[in-house]
Amino acid sequence: MKPVIIVHGGAKTITEDKVAANQAGCLAAVEAGWEVLRTGGNAAAAVEAAIRVLESDQTFNAGFGSTMNSEGEVEVDAAMMDGATLDWGAVAAVQGVRHPISVAHKIMEDKSRLLVARSGERFALEHGLEVCAKEDLVSEEQYQEWKEEIEVLDRPNTVGCVALDANGNLVAGTSTGGTTGQPQGRVGDTALVGCGLYADNRSGACSTTGDGESIIPVVLAKTAIDALAAGKHPDEAAQHAIDTLIDRVAGEAGCILIDRQGQVGWAHNSSEMAVAYMSDELKQPVFFTRQDQKFTVV
Ligand code: GLY
Repeated sequence: MKPVIIVHGGAKTITEDKVAANQAGCLAAVEAGWEVLRTGGNAAAAVEAAIRVLESDQTFNAGFGSTMNSEGEVEVDAAMMDGATLDWGAVAAVQGVRHPISVAHKIMEDKSRLLVARSGERFALEHGLEVCAKEDLVSEEQYQEWKEEIEVLDRPNTVGCVALDANGNLVAGTSTGGTTGQPQGRVGDTALVGCGLYADNRSGACSTTGDGESIIPVVLAKTAIDALAAGKHPDEAAQHAIDTLIDRVAGEAGCILIDRQGQVGWAHNSSEMAVAYMSDELKQPVFFTRQDQKFTVV
């Protein structure tokens, strides 16, 4: 099987001055994940490597630089799912964890479950994963925005990655800081299998982004995967999932997909969504801020 990797940096408005930062971050993430796949690593390791790059970059709402809750704190959620075994791992409302996707990956390898708040933080500590003071995840830009209660239009919501490795295994991962000013302890779709992500080697894998309260009732990731299983191309399956959300609930969202043949697709109803991907057919990773650029640029 030929490896493929796709990442998203969130479905939101991306103002002109933030395009370059989104592009640099998404391309760096794809390159990190591609290096894992190119050298024979598995899809889970590739997804973790890619998302760690996005979690380190304050351009994105995940890990360091995440948006802040009502108490001025960063509380993050992340999850990973393996399409071969349907194993999964997730954390929600954790603080002081440098890379929530690494904790989700480790939980997935250990035993499928969702660990919330102190339970997730304790798991990270006990398994030697990077922990930090909870303040260390607050960026200056986010602190100023929280203090001034600025309405943030260009804050991409959530990051994610889907990878297919040489063994034909599909893995999805998603990581977020949640929504700006969210109540302490609020958890959206990201940590929930079927909503924030899904992976099944029989059909494909998906990572979503957007308004958790809208994504959850339409089980966005599983809706996209079911459309793949029914024979749709990943672009059509992604669009079907977004159309379902538009039809049934209000809200903005997006999703990225890889099917079991290695075809990529995505859709969003936000004005932009940063997406980058890489495959054997490309000389270098490609980046887009809108889905309608896919067939004009490549
Ligand atoms: N999609 C992230 C959230 O709603 O928390």
